[in-house]
Amino acid sequence: MKVKEILDKAYNEHHLTKDEIKFLLNSEGEEKELLFEYADRVRKEYVGDDVYLRGLIEFSSYCKNDCFYCGLRRSNKEAQRYRMQEDEIVEVAKRAYDMGYRTVVLQSGEDPYYTKDKVCSIIKKIKEEVDVAITLSIGERSYEEYKAFREAGADRYLMRFETSNRELYQKYHPGMSFENRIECLRWIKSLGYELGTGFLIGLPGQTIDDLANDILLVYELDSDMIGIGPFIPHPHTPLKDAEAGSVDLTLKCISILRLLMPDSNIPATTALGTLDPLGRQKGLKCGANIVMPNVNDLKYKLKYELYPGKICINEDATKCRGCIESIIISLGRKVGQGFGQSRHYELKK
Ligand code: SAM
Ligand code: SF4
Ligand code: FES
Repeated sequence: MKVKEILDKAYNEHHLTKDEIKFLLNSEGEEKELLFEYADRVRKEYVGDDVYLRGLIEFSSYCKNDCFYCGLRRSNKEAQRYRMQEDEIVEVAKRAYDMGYRTVVLQSGEDPYYTKDKVCSIIKKIKEEVDVAITLSIGERSYEEYKAFREAGADRYLMRFETSNRELYQKYHPGMSFENRIECLRWIKSLGYELGTGFLIGLPGQTIDDLANDILLVYELDSDMIGIGPFIPHPHTPLKDAEAGSVDLTLKCISILRLLMPDSNIPATTALGTLDPLGRQKGLKCGANIVMPNVNDLKYKLKYELYPGKICINEDATKCRGCIESIIISLGRKVGQGFGQSRHYELKK
């Protein structure tokens, strides 16, 4: 198998076999660089030079789940918990709008305090006040809840399946079920949301074969947005002594997914920027076209600790807005205007 042959096939057909994906995941040196170049070319041809910004509002650090890797897990007694009230969330959304954001991402632990009615009310208030697209990232809910959020005005939903390896999923998500997660993702899609899903790279025990399956599952779920990032060990979790995921492997996954899903939105994640000071730049150079800066107050940013060493934790939202724009410009790209809907979603309508 020649890397050029595989890349040409991916470029022309947007389809690869599992073995071909594994070959690319194992590529090194010039072959790896060629993969990144192809992905960058496809990104430019399909989604252009615009990089869209999403204003992330992490509104609750309470979580009823106990995912082994996450600092917000309910067993972490040292986690600092907070909940933002409706008016405060709406205020932050307005501030994000004033800074030029046209999408806000409402994210939290799985926190039942925010009932169906509360979430609907937050969505409606934000939509009344500012013209933004709303992405929810609040975990698993019932079909009725997803339906109500959509009817209230939510546009998009982000929820990673984290790993397609059922055994690893069960091991790292006590009390949760992989089947339920996938069912939720299918409901979300059927309700007309722009769907975002993805996985963690570098969970202990995860193999290249698993990652190839993860990539194929994102493809099968026909994701409009693809959220993938490296695992980073948190000192107050059972995985505290594990090694962090690899930046290089993350970049390869981004590149392969760009080749397979040329018109989907792919963020260069904060976790990537945390493991490598140039991580977000590298992601944007091999297929990514989205960045999600946090727009919350510093007092909350510090408490939403999924993993240690998160970038931007001491910077206020205005500083990040300026910083990220200069990064984008330094790469010869520009900040996208408007909602930045996924082209993948747009074209299917
Ligand atoms: N609770 C919701 C959920 O799980 O979908 C949304 C918030 S959750 C904190 C968002 C994402 O953070 C998860 O999908 C997970 O992949 C990521 N995450 C959690 N702990 C992490 C860690 N230690 N390293 C890297 N990413 C992590
Ligand atoms: Fe909760 Fe999400 Fe963290 Fe799991 S990843 S513990 S669901 S916040
Ligand atoms: Fe936050 Fe650079 S984007 S300081």
